[in-house]
Amino acid sequence: QVDESKEVESIVPSYACQRRTTLENHNTVFTDALSLLAESAELSDEDGRGVAFRRAAAVLKALHSPVTDLLQLRGLPCLGGHSLRVIKDVLENGASSEVECTKQSERFKALKVLTGIFGVGSKTAERWIREGIHSLPQLQDSAHTLNRAQQAGLEHYDDLNQPVTKAEGDAIGEIVAKAVMSVLPGVQITLIGGFRRGKLTGHDVDFLITHPEEGREVGLMPKVVSWLESKGFLLYQKTTRNSYLESKDGPARPSSNMDRFERCFSIFKLPEDAKQGTTQTETLTEDTPEDTCRLTTPSLVKDEGSESTKRANLKPWRAVRVDLVVSPISQFAFALLGWTGSKLFERELRRWAGHEKAMSLSSHALYDNTQSKYLRASSEEEIFAHLGLEYIPPSERNA
Ligand code: GTP
Ligand code: MN
Ligand code: MN
Repeated sequence: QVDESKEVESIVPSYACQRRTTLENHNTVFTDALSLLAESAELSDEDGRGVAFRRAAAVLKALHSPVTDLLQLRGLPCLGGHSLRVIKDVLENGASSEVECTKQSERFKALKVLTGIFGVGSKTAERWIREGIHSLPQLQDSAHTLNRAQQAGLEHYDDLNQPVTKAEGDAIGEIVAKAVMSVLPGVQITLIGGFRRGKLTGHDVDFLITHPEEGREVGLMPKVVSWLESKGFLLYQKTTRNSYLESKDGPARPSSNMDRFERCFSIFKLPEDAKQGTTQTETLTEDTPEDTCRLTTPSLVKDEGSESTKRANLKPWRAVRVDLVVSPISQFAFALLGWTGSKLFERELRRWAGHEKAMSLSSHALYDNTQSKYLRASSEEEIFAHLGLEYIPPSERNA
């Protein structure tokens, strides 16, 4: 058996972007444990530790069978002492004491609740916890003034913490398609993020928008947002202008994974009947006038959880986080690759490019430092080829 596993070991390369990682995970008991520790580290701004746990979890996700013995892990990359201790604990005791301890800690629970509010990051949550705020009612009773994003996040807390289904993603897609088509015919819209990788649920829905004629996409987002707002589809939106062309320091910004596309973080108001089918899109816009919905807006924070959930279920719509990104066609392949994820897969692609190929990859471009030039690509396949990597389709980027 050990011999057999040795063969498996030898074919697990160390960068996640060299591996095929489907959604079929034979080691969830271990990857859940490691992911929780990664999350806890990230919430404490210990990104290095977080990435180490994410990499370890990703290696186990890529295995074709369940791990039943520590010996099977010999020779596998990215498994540090800490991760191995966690795996050993799970193998011997059915659970990791560190994970259980973390899950039950007041600090972790408070960080989860507070960062569960859209617009609240770990730094803000940390500050509130230091002031003794551990729960939503405590936050409400505090004198803190919340920004616009956080107010919307608090108001739609329950909806936004309920996973978005593929059917809901598709329904949103139809609304977005209708919006962009009526603003600029010929526009192309692509589902990106987790749903493009074949996930059945997600925390939001992500779309990439482009036009086959370079330049026609300029200024598109404000028009799309106006259209959506006029039909009552937006509960919140923040649009960021494209800052790529104006910047002085050249197109690809190697050190940062934040891109400069015109983009919109939003919260959609998705009518409940929109999920059922494609034919109802026409009527649903008229069926949900703004004031009808306002009457049933739940005040989630003031109520106890169960009550608010009951009430939330009575309203004829739900709030869904939606990300829209606009890319010029010349950068489309890079934007598509950069926004499909997973987050770890993206991080590993950039690390591979930098460390193994002396190249800088961003969601805008690929720069070859050796040749001192940008490498063009009009498909994801070409980018993988430039990077000297075997092409990995979206459904196998679930690292
Ligand atoms: P779920 O939404 O939970 O299903 O997961 P997801 O994989 O879709 O994650 P998310 O929506 O957060 O992000 C989708 C992809 O876009 C990920 O690969 C991220 O790395 C990428 N992404 C998110 N925000 C940014 C950003 O500001 N800049 C760039 N370049 N990429 C981003
Ligand atoms: Mn997403
Ligand atoms: Mn997103």
